[in-house]
Amino acid sequence: MPMKTSSVLISRSQIADRVRELAMKITQDYSPRLKANESLLVVSVLKGSFVFAADLVRQLNLPCEIDFIEASSYGAGTQSSGDVKILKDLRGNMESRHVLVVEDIVDTGLTITRLLQLFKTRNPSSIRLCAFLHKPSRSEVPVTIDYLGFTIEDKFVVGYGLDVNERFRECPDLVVYQEAK
Ligand code: XMP
Ligand code: MG
Repeated sequence: MPMKTSSVLISRSQIADRVRELAMKITQDYSPRLKANESLLVVSVLKGSFVFAADLVRQLNLPCEIDFIEASSYGAGTQSSGDVKILKDLRGNMESRHVLVVEDIVDTGLTITRLLQLFKTRNPSSIRLCAFLHKPSRSEVPVTIDYLGFTIEDKFVVGYGLDVNERFRECPDLVVYQEAK
């Protein structure tokens, strides 16, 4: 599935600047909250957030642990149904931990809402959401995004970890996907 044009929506340098700002804010917020023996548990939602999470944790000036969860939302085609299946669960426990969930994109909001509901049953000390992208025009349920990279229009985007049928995750820029005719 070749792309016709690669129209860069957000360049790698814009992304790097924003990641640095977000990391500074997260560091400021959590530094006073973490006790001497505590670390921040960063939960990267696979697969889309793996690039963002990797960049973010390397800019945090905090003791961190990182874990991964993979979920799939069932639905017709590209529509999220909110019926979320856990394909790969966390290795560790989040009970009594400060948890930062890192997501690639909040679209309808259904997937992350289900995941946050699940995490809350696991009794973390606190839980916050950091999302690289938000498409508010497609929102179906309200989601509080504590740390947000960018708000975008309703366009299908790939790169920086995001894919179409598993392609283009490796692209360093965020690009609007246009199928070749
Ligand atoms: P919700 O449940 O919020 O689903 O609708 C969010 C998930 O949908 C995928 N998604 C995208 N993936 N480009 C992508 O590569 C997009 O523009 C896009 N919009 C939604 C993504 O997996 C996200 O976690
Ligand atoms: Mg995803």
